[in-house]
Amino acid sequence: MIEFSNVTKYYEDDVILKGLTFTIDKGELAFITGPSGAGKSTLLKMIYCDELPDKGQIIVAGWDVGKLKQKTIPFLRRNVGIVFQDFRLLPNKTVYDNIALALRIHYMSSRAIKDDVNAVLKEVKLSHKSGTYPPHLSGGEQQRVVIARAMVSKPTVLLADEPTGNLDVENAKAIMALFREINARGTTVLIATHNYDLFHGTGRRVFYIKDHNIEKDTIG
Ligand SMILES: Nc1ncnc2c1ncn2[C@@H]1O[C@H](COP(=O)(O)OP(=O)(O)OP(=O)(O)O)[C@@H](O)[C@H]1O
Ligand SMILES: [Mg+2]
Repeated sequence: MIEFSNVTKYYEDDVILKGLTFTIDKGELAFITGPSGAGKSTLLKMIYCDELPDKGQIIVAGWDVGKLKQKTIPFLRRNVGIVFQDFRLLPNKTVYDNIALALRIHYMSSRAIKDDVNAVLKEVKLSHKSGTYPPHLSGGEQQRVVIARAMVSKPTVLLADEPTGNLDVENAKAIMALFREINARGTTVLIATHNYDLFHGTGRRVFYIKDHNIEKDTIG
């Protein structure tokens, strides 16, 4: 589902990732970890075509993302849901509208949008907050809305960058349970985190990035 072949990425003259090769199969839930600055976020951004590799090839759900034309990128992104640090909720839109926006760009009828948004809100246990504005939600609730927004278009792949970064242990557990549910329904999930507790004991694959490459590929 996600295939990196000999991928190298520079920012100006600095090499960030060098000769990266790995595969994540369809239906897997895997983790990327490693020290701050190792390139975890950069790696996820390349999957989403927000950054391009300088060398090598990245195939995501059948697309060669390094070679996508500008007009094809939205088709890739329809299949890739993201829960990113710098991709926040719109504060002046309700929870409902924040999620619905992700579907309106898909030209769905408002009836179909309503059904899908309500279903996903139920799943993240926030039906009662549908009309609330994000600044009036707790951190854990906001993060569940972000996940609902990523889930609502039923992506093939879900990418999460430090999804539990600002949350307490209980909220972090709830978020991880959500990812497991999403994954159990067939979505391939890739989570970048430096939080050992998130992957320890999960039995899932963990890629440890250090010195520009995968230093270890282990089971958490
Ligand atoms: N847009 C950019 N321009 C130049 N350098 C960048 C850019 N984005 C990231 N970098 C650099 O690339 C390196 C990798 O950054 P990245 O954000 O991928 O690390 P990370 O592993 O996600 O770290 P963290 O755990 O702190 O989130 C860092 O040294 C960073 O300073
Ligand atoms: Mg990062």
